[in-house]
Amino acid sequence: MAETAVLTVNPEQPEPEKIRIAAKVLREGGLVAFPTETVYGLGANALDEAPVLRIFQVKNRPKDNPLIVHIANKDDVNLLAERVPSKARRLIDSFWPGPLTLLLPKSELVPAATTAGLATVAVRMPSHPIAQALISEADVPVAAPSANLAGRPSPTSAKHVLDDLSGRIEVVIDGGEVGYGVESTVLDMTVDPPVVLRPGPITVGELKEILGRVEIHPIARAEIPAEAVIAKAPGMRYRHYAPRAELVLVEGTPQQVVAKIKELRASYEQQGKKVGIMATVETAGEYGAEMVKVVGERKNLRTIAKGLFRTLREFDGEKVDVILAEGVEPTGIGLAIMNRLRKAAARVVRTE
Ligand code: TXA
Ligand code: MG
Repeated sequence: MAETAVLTVNPEQPEPEKIRIAAKVLREGGLVAFPTETVYGLGANALDEAPVLRIFQVKNRPKDNPLIVHIANKDDVNLLAERVPSKARRLIDSFWPGPLTLLLPKSELVPAATTAGLATVAVRMPSHPIAQALISEADVPVAAPSANLAGRPSPTSAKHVLDDLSGRIEVVIDGGEVGYGVESTVLDMTVDPPVVLRPGPITVGELKEILGRVEIHPIARAEIPAEAVIAKAPGMRYRHYAPRAELVLVEGTPQQVVAKIKELRASYEQQGKKVGIMATVETAGEYGAEMVKVVGERKNLRTIAKGLFRTLREFDGEKVDVILAEGVEPTGIGLAIMNRLRKAAARVVRTE
C-alpha cells in the first residue's frame, strides 16, 4: 500500500465533498479511519468479508475479537439483529445516537468475519457528525474497532492513528480531538437482566434509570486477572491500552496514592529506571519533580477520561521506563477509567 491520505474535515459541519471521497473508499472495499465521539475508529464495510479481514490484519488484531458495527439510522439495527428486545428499544430511544453499544442476536446479513464467528452482533449509532455523515454517505453499515494497533492505547486524535497505522490504511479523516476519550459502553442485551461487558461514557447509573436492573460482568470491573475469566466479550480478555512503558496503577484514597507513588518512585529510581507520574490537577503539586503529567481533574472525571489515552501515549514519547498512575473512584465514568487502567497495568498496587 502507498501512503495514507489525510482528509481534514470540519467536525461540526463536515464538508460533503470530502465525506464523499472517504465514503467511496469504504464502498470500494478500502479502510477509512474516522473520529467518533468516543475514540477514532478504523472503518470497513461491515457486510464485506475481505475489507473486514483486512482490519484484523492491519491492526494485528486476534481473529476471535469481534467488531462493533456502526450505523447512521436507528432503523438499521433491524437489518443487523435477528431480534431487538423491547428493553433494547428503550435504550435506543434514550441513548442513540451516542456511546452505547448493544449486543444482540445477529441476522444472516452480517458475515462471520465481522462477529468473529459469534451468533451475536454489537451495534452502535455514533453521534459524531463526521461518523454520521460518513456512514450515511457510504450507505453500508461500518465495522469499526478503535483505530490503534492491537494492545496500544486507543487513538483520540488523527495523529495517534497515523502513529500506529500510517501506510497501512487508505484514508484518515482528521476531525480534531474526540469528545469522551474512552470507548463506548458495551451492554449484552441477549441476557436478562442485561450485563455491562465494558464500562464507558453511558454509566451504569444511567442504564439503571431506564432498565431497573443491570449487572456488571467481572471483566468490566477488571479487578481480577483477565485470564481467569471466561470472557463473554473475547477482546476483553487481552491486555490492552498499554503504553510501551511498564504501567503501575496505584489505588486508594488520593492521600494514600500520593504517598505510595512517592515511595515507588524512589525505589524504581534506585534501580536506575526513568519514572513518569500520571497525576491529577488536585495532586500534581505534591510530587515536586519533573515528568509529572496531569491527566485531568478528580472533581470532574470526564476530564480524566478525555486525557487518559493521550497522556499514556505522551509518556511513550518521553521514553520513560515506568509510569506510576493514580487510580480514581470507580463510580460513573470512573468505572470506565479504572477498567482501562487496570487492563493497561503490568502491576496494580492497592494501598487500602
Ligand atoms: O467507542 C467505541 O466503541 C469504539 C468506536 C470506534 O466506536 N470502538 C471500539 O471497538 O472500541 P473495539 O473493537 O476496540 O472494541 C469493541 C469491543 C471489543 O472488546 C469486542 O470484544 C467487543 O466490543 N465486541 C464486539 N462484538 C462483540 C460480540 N458480538 N460479542 C461480544 N463482544 C463483542
Ligand atoms: Mg479497541
